[in-house]
Amino acid sequence: MSVKQYIQDNQEKFLNELLDLLRIPSVSADPKFKDDVFAAAEFVRESLEKAGAEKVEVCQTAGYPIVYGEKIIDASLPTVLVYGHYDVQPADPYELWDSPPFEPVIKKTARHPEGAIFARGSADDKGQFYMHVKAFEAMMANKDLPCNIKFMIEGEEEVGSEHLDIFVKENKEKLKADVVLVSDTHMISLENPSVTVGLRGLAYMQVEVTGPNRDLHSGTYGGAVGNPINILCKMIASLQDENNHITIPGFYDKVEDYSADYRKALNDAPFDLEAYKKELDIKDVHGEKGYTTIERVGIRPTLDVNGIWGGYTGEGAKTVLPSKAYAKISMRLVPNQDHKEIAKLFEAHFKAIAPDSVKVKVTPHHGGQAAVVSTDTPGYRAADLAIQEAFGKKAIPTREGGSIPICSLFQQELGLDPILLGFGLDTDALHSPNEHYGVKNYYMGIETIALFFKHFKNEASK
Ligand code: BES
Ligand code: MN
Ligand code: MN
Repeated sequence: MSVKQYIQDNQEKFLNELLDLLRIPSVSADPKFKDDVFAAAEFVRESLEKAGAEKVEVCQTAGYPIVYGEKIIDASLPTVLVYGHYDVQPADPYELWDSPPFEPVIKKTARHPEGAIFARGSADDKGQFYMHVKAFEAMMANKDLPCNIKFMIEGEEEVGSEHLDIFVKENKEKLKADVVLVSDTHMISLENPSVTVGLRGLAYMQVEVTGPNRDLHSGTYGGAVGNPINILCKMIASLQDENNHITIPGFYDKVEDYSADYRKALNDAPFDLEAYKKELDIKDVHGEKGYTTIERVGIRPTLDVNGIWGGYTGEGAKTVLPSKAYAKISMRLVPNQDHKEIAKLFEAHFKAIAPDSVKVKVTPHHGGQAAVVSTDTPGYRAADLAIQEAFGKKAIPTREGGSIPICSLFQQELGLDPILLGFGLDTDALHSPNEHYGVKNYYMGIETIALFFKHFKNEASK
């Protein structure tokens, strides 16, 4: 029997197991789900053991555990370190889901005519890391594991991977490998398979603007005392100019300008702007002048308000001049922009532009560095060959707008370029209500991952 045959024969079992994992609400951000996050770690441990991994361990940290497992078949063979995360984003707002987020159902969509699994974490990242467990199971069952394998599946990716950072630094020997393989990104489509070669970094800030020492009657005081919400809005608006260029001094100092050739290659990737707008129900896109949509997401930094609140938001009207206003503001960064430095630039600028009528407090949340991956490595070539064999097409290298901060840590601490072999689609509603993952993407992913191991063995020994 072949690995491919095993995968085909076990499709139903592979799907049902994933559905069981998706039923565990392992939301790392909300302490209410603490037991479930631990339960998901236990699920991962058991699934690795059943698939044939050895030295399987639930490594406790000061936060959520990291599940480790390995199969070393021959020390002289190359080793693949698989990274993924079993935690998920909060499912709120629940009322916007068509079916409960932790009760997976399979439904057809325009982009997934063969069905997609609707559940929180289906694409990010349970459905994706679990493909690796199943590919490993298939290779083991056929006594056809071409490389050594190590698994490191964490439970805090969605809250900044704080303890994984420490774990990687303290366990360099244990994690020693020839490549890191990650499925936690998108591909263009099943017709246009791609490999991600760049991710953006992230600096995430919370700001608090305080006006008067208490809420005031907006008639008695309105017009005479600074309203922190009005002022916060003006301050935020001033952070981008008429060309949607960010106005924070020094923000672009380290941003790389790419050659015309590089930009052309990037823009040669299949992308349908009309379909993009239609899918989002927007009349036009919006972004930095002089750049295409692909570039705005892939190679340019940006600044977005994620949430803004203050004053009265209940039923009816209350005439109030609020004492405080808040916002959560994130900046997506590109290579060379250091997230800590950007956080400092933001804080200094935000305080500098505040009028004397308000006080400003700026608190940085988690952040992470951008990462760019070379296409001239055995790992990338193996990914490309695996895609060619599974899809009959060469992989298109793409740069994505999302962030996986741990990727730059792998480069720094382990000296390894992660191979970002993701099978989700950008329309899969990650972090949104009705997140889903194509059933076909799941099966094609398992098959492609198994092929990666075959090709990596060859490429790494060249
Ligand atoms: N899997 C995503 C990152 C991603 C999504 C990369 C789509 C490329 C395409 C990851 O789980 C994630 O959500 N990362 C966060 C950052 C993290 C520090 C919370 C993000 O990008 O917002
Ligand atoms: Mn993810
Ligand atoms: Mn995520």
